[in-house]
Amino acid sequence: MKAIELLNEIHNIDSYKRFGKVARVVGLMIESQGPEASIGDVCHIYVGSSKKQRKVTAEVVGFRDEFVILMPFTNINDISPGSIVEATSKPLQVKVGSGLIGKVVDSLGLPLDGSLLPKGLSSVGTDQSPPNPMDRPTIEESIDVGVRVIDSLLTVGKGQRVGIFAGSGVGKSTLLGMIARNTTADLNVIALIGERGREVKEFIERDLGPEGLKRSIVVVATSDQPALMRIKGAYTATAIAEYFRDKGLNVMLMMDSVTRVAMAQREIGLAVGEPPTTKGYTPSVFATLPKLLERTGTNQHGTITAFYTVLVDGDDMNEPIADTVRGILDGHFVLDRQLANKGQFPAINVLKSISRVMNHIVATEHKISAEKLRELLSTYINSEDLINIGAYKRGSSREIDEAIRYYPKIISFLKQGTHESISRDESIEMLKALIGTGG
Ligand SMILES: Nc1ncnc2c1ncn2[C@@H]1O[C@H](COP(=O)(O)OP(=O)(O)O)[C@@H](O)[C@H]1O
Ligand SMILES: [Mg+2]
Repeated sequence: MKAIELLNEIHNIDSYKRFGKVARVVGLMIESQGPEASIGDVCHIYVGSSKKQRKVTAEVVGFRDEFVILMPFTNINDISPGSIVEATSKPLQVKVGSGLIGKVVDSLGLPLDGSLLPKGLSSVGTDQSPPNPMDRPTIEESIDVGVRVIDSLLTVGKGQRVGIFAGSGVGKSTLLGMIARNTTADLNVIALIGERGREVKEFIERDLGPEGLKRSIVVVATSDQPALMRIKGAYTATAIAEYFRDKGLNVMLMMDSVTRVAMAQREIGLAVGEPPTTKGYTPSVFATLPKLLERTGTNQHGTITAFYTVLVDGDDMNEPIADTVRGILDGHFVLDRQLANKGQFPAINVLKSISRVMNHIVATEHKISAEKLRELLSTYINSEDLINIGAYKRGSSREIDEAIRYYPKIISFLKQGTHESISRDESIEMLKALIGTGG
C-alpha cells in the first residue's frame, strides 16, 4: 500500500469505542441503553464481579423504543443491571482456511476440543448474500456420492441442492456419513444443528469415522445451546463452504437438520415479539430459509452441492418447513420408515424421490435404464398387496409378471451396506446390466 493510501486509511479509522449499559433482561433477551449499533452487529457484554470480569458475546437482534435488544451466544446468569455493553460495529466473523480441514468447530468457528486454531486462516462474515442468479452457471456435470441408489436413479449434479426428508431413526446420519466418506467432492462441510451431544459424538466417531473426518470440516451446535448459536451454526457452515467454493473447489455441504435451524429462528422470532403463523413459525423463519438455502449451489468459481435434512413426523410432507424447503431446492429424497423396518437400507423411497437435475446431466442410455427400473418398481408396488396375499395369478398381466421377476434383483440392487463403497460408474453399469437381464 502506498503511503498516501495508508494515511487515508488511518484518517478514516473509527477511533471511538461505543458503550451502553444493560437495563433489563427479559427471558432470553437483554435490553440495553446504547450502544449505537445495527441489527446483526456483535457486542461484548462485561459480566461478573469487578474482580472476575468476563466478556460475553451477544448479537443485536432488534430495538424497542430507545433500547437495543441483544441476544447472547452463551447462557449467562451472572449479568446485572448496569453491566457494560461494548459495540464491535461488525457482524459475526469466523476464521476459515485449509488448516480447518479435519476439525470439529462450534458455531463461532472455534475448535470444540478447546485447542487453538491453526495459523494462516482468513476472517469471513457468516452472513452473506446468495450469488446473483444471473451469474450462476447452470448445473452440467454430475457428482459421485458413492451411494448406488442415488448415483444410478437420483443422480446429483455438482452444485445441486437436495432435501433429505425423514423421521428419526430411519438412517439419515448413516447416509450422510456414507456420502461424506465416498463422495468425489473436494471437501465436506457438515453442520450438525440441534442434535443431542451423544448423537454428535456417534456421528463423528461411527458414521463419519476418521477417514471421513480427514476430508471434512464439522460445525456443531447441540440442542442445549442457545437458539442464536444454533442459527449461527448454519450460517458458519455455509460461510465455510462459500470460502472454499470461491477457491474453485467442489464442496459438499450437509446440514442436519434444517428443521432445527427453523425452530431456532422461531424461538428468536417469538422472543423479539414476532407473531406466530403456521404451526407457531414466525414470518422471519420463512424469510430466513430461502436466504440461507440460496447461498449454496454454483457460482463463477466453484460449486457447493448441498444436502439439507428435514424432519418429517409420520411422513407429513406438507408440514410448513418441509413444504417451504421442498419448494426452494432442486430435488428431494424421502427416507421411508417402512423400508427401514423391512431392513432395506439406505431406506430411500425411489418412487417418492426426485432429482430435478438428473435428466439434464446423464447419458440417454442411463436415463432409459433408470426410467425402466422405476416403472418395474412402481408396477410391483401397485400390486404388492394382491401379490402378498396370493390373490394375483401369474399370467394375468405381462407387466406384473415382469415386475415380479425383477423385484428381488431390484431390491438387492437398492440395498447397500454402510461400508460398501461403490463408484458412480460401477453403479450405472450395474443398473444397465440389471435392466438388460430381462428379469
Ligand atoms: N446402510 C445401512 N445399513 C444397515 N443398517 C443401517 C443403514 N443405515 C441405517 N441403518 C440402521 O438404522 C439405524 C438408525 O440410523 P441413523 O443413521 O442413526 O438414523 P437417524 O440419523 O435418521 O436417526 C442405525 O443404527 C442402523 O442400525
Ligand atoms: Mg441422526
